[in-house]
Amino acid sequence: MKPTHAEEFTDALGQVFAGAVRLADVGIGLGVPKVLGLSPEEWAQRRLAGPVRLSIPERRQVVEANPEMSSRELGEALGVDQKTIVNDRHAEEDSSRSEEDSSDRTGRDRTVLFTSLSPDWETPQDLFDALDTEFAFELDVCATDKTAKCERYFTPDSDGLAQEWRGVCWMNPPYGATIGAWVAKAAESARNGATVVCLVPARVDTGWWWDHCRHGEIRFLRGRLRFGNGETGAPFPSAVVVLGRPARVVWWER
Ligand SMILES: C[S@@+](CC[C@H](N)C(=O)[O-])C[C@H]1O[C@@H](n2cnc3c(N)ncnc32)[C@H](O)[C@@H]1O
Repeated sequence: MKPTHAEEFTDALGQVFAGAVRLADVGIGLGVPKVLGLSPEEWAQRRLAGPVRLSIPERRQVVEANPEMSSRELGEALGVDQKTIVNDRHAEEDSSRSEEDSSDRTGRDRTVLFTSLSPDWETPQDLFDALDTEFAFELDVCATDKTAKCERYFTPDSDGLAQEWRGVCWMNPPYGATIGAWVAKAAESARNGATVVCLVPARVDTGWWWDHCRHGEIRFLRGRLRFGNGETGAPFPSAVVVLGRPARVVWWER
């Protein structure tokens, strides 16, 4: 039977609503409510009422908080084109680039780091080997079959966040909006007797640094790491944080 106009209208309305709900969820995943100073519920209400335009500084905060997402994905989620996100990322690099890699001001397109080809920010093998020699890791708490650094590891399927972490653990967490939850779990595991060695962006202004990282041994790394197969340094500085050891700060020249 052919649908009536009223049925077609209701159906279309339902689709629009489902799309808005999905976009509200996407915004929560990206950390948009936090940037806007809203609770997830307030954000969802506002997003369901219609598209929300972020100011340039707000959008750049969201972009910076999601380094593992490709520019295309972020552009789609934030309702701007991919080039805008690429420009945001270059602006962030320019304002925070370290002395060490300032020689790399070649204007080369560094977006290769952000494409879906390298979403994993895989630990540089030499850094991992040096730490493994020192700590003898027993568990990689977040990895894939391809990137796991230890024989025992958790993947998104087994969900490292839902597991118990014991012994000497390696953690290079997903760098999206969930990073705070990973660091909180590392701190909790350390309180329960584990040693968790974390490789994290040196974003010392974040809540998770203030709440957890500063209570461990912090090793600031000189220069920028080349994650995975990256040809250039990361657009952010990194630190190794050992949770389960007394607080101290080390300027780590490897
Ligand atoms: C930054 S990569 C680190 C990969 C590898 N452990 C390393 O050190 O190179 C973070 C990894 O966490 C994985 N991951 C994401 N969510 C996860 C979850 N809930 N449980 C376990 N692993 C997860 C991602 O697939 C990604 O491979």
